[in-house]
Amino acid sequence: MPLWDGRFSQSPAEQVLKLSESISYDRRLYPYDIEGSLAHAKMLARQGIIPKEDAKKIASGLRQVKKELDSGKFVFKTELEDIHMNIEARLTELIGDAGARLHTGRSRNDQIATDERLYLRHQDDEVREALRGLQAALWRLAAENKTVILPGFTHLQHAQPLLFAHHLLAYIEMLERDRERLADCRHRINRLPLGAGALAGSTLPLDREFVAKELGFEGVLQNSMDAVADRDVSIEFLSALALVAMHLSRLAEDIAIWFSQEFSFIEIGDAFTTGSSLMPQKKNPDIAELTRGKTGRVYGALTSLLTTLKGLPLTYNRDLQEDKEGLFDAIDTVKLVLATMGAMLATVRPNPKRMLEAASDPSLMATDLAEALVRQGVPFREAHHQVGRFVGACAKAGITLAQASLKMMRESIPAATPEFLAIFDPKRSVAARNLTGGTAPAQVHRQLARWGKKLGLAMPRRSAR
Ligand code: ARG
Repeated sequence: MPLWDGRFSQSPAEQVLKLSESISYDRRLYPYDIEGSLAHAKMLARQGIIPKEDAKKIASGLRQVKKELDSGKFVFKTELEDIHMNIEARLTELIGDAGARLHTGRSRNDQIATDERLYLRHQDDEVREALRGLQAALWRLAAENKTVILPGFTHLQHAQPLLFAHHLLAYIEMLERDRERLADCRHRINRLPLGAGALAGSTLPLDREFVAKELGFEGVLQNSMDAVADRDVSIEFLSALALVAMHLSRLAEDIAIWFSQEFSFIEIGDAFTTGSSLMPQKKNPDIAELTRGKTGRVYGALTSLLTTLKGLPLTYNRDLQEDKEGLFDAIDTVKLVLATMGAMLATVRPNPKRMLEAASDPSLMATDLAEALVRQGVPFREAHHQVGRFVGACAKAGITLAQASLKMMRESIPAATPEFLAIFDPKRSVAARNLTGGTAPAQVHRQLARWGKKLGLAMPRRSAR
């Protein structure tokens, strides 16, 4: 019989157990469940609600239970539904009557809300650390290839030349905002639900502030109904993870494109690529593809929890038990992907020759030409028009912009000077974008130095390229 069997004359039907059990997945919350119970019992004794002797027994009993759980010797019982009742039942088995006092002034409703917040707080730290790891991998790749130039794309069409390091630094910035979001929601996660009871608080003189301090919470939730009914912090955490997954997916897409035969911009280490069971010649960027693919399940977890919550009347409803599997899966997935992508990036080698070749198409410097005209006082719209005419004339003549003579250039661009003929150099083009946030080597070096300091990484002595 379950722990709540008092008013029942029959045990739950077999199907009921199958549908309602959560022990198969909420068992991973056990360290937090025990941490919460230790603090709760300590408070109960301090407040004179339970005998000090019993609190001592509870504490040592819980430590024993934790040992069994840590070592894998704990026997989980499905008929005890969830992690809370599994632990409590084993505790009572170990220490007798004292164990039966632990649940004083507490409900599984405020208990699970507390466990989840402790778990999320821990995961928040871990995901931020994992993000740091990927930032470091991106930084190393950038710092080792500081001078490599590649074409930048808009609409997946050649746009303007860029430093490879600049491209990688863009992702470091995105991942930093992901970290900030996680750091911000940590403050909202870090509030204590315990003391809310089932929904309305307790008639017993519980000291919630003490429990909050014991558990390292920043404060106690100020409304008992809110404390047991909401899961907005899990949703917020999932939405932060969804953004991480979205960023990772775009990085993965860039990598898959760069790795394609048509581009051949990068090489990826054998340990991070896979072959085909049919085509012997294949070397596929599966890690990038799986990263992109796994984004769907992270979004799925977010959508699922939003949907679960939307129709629930206050306060606790059993639907809320559905908040866990998607959350756990999304966290596991994001952490795994972050670690794997970081390790894969460490094996990535750019092909600077190919990249520069692709960036050397003179039409990528058409904007530079228009801006040279602006410097001579030509209004930008007019400059844009003249350069457009020049591009059209070259295309008609079947030559590149760099192959045109000054005379031909002047037919479209009357104010063109001999210096204009030297504009079609990607190195020069990159160097000219020398403002904060620009791709000039001086700016990129500044950003690399800033991030190196922040990430605690030393600039490589000699950049490979
Ligand atoms: N396993 C439950 C959950 O995760 C714990 C809370 C159960 N509360 C209840 N009133 N049945 O939501």
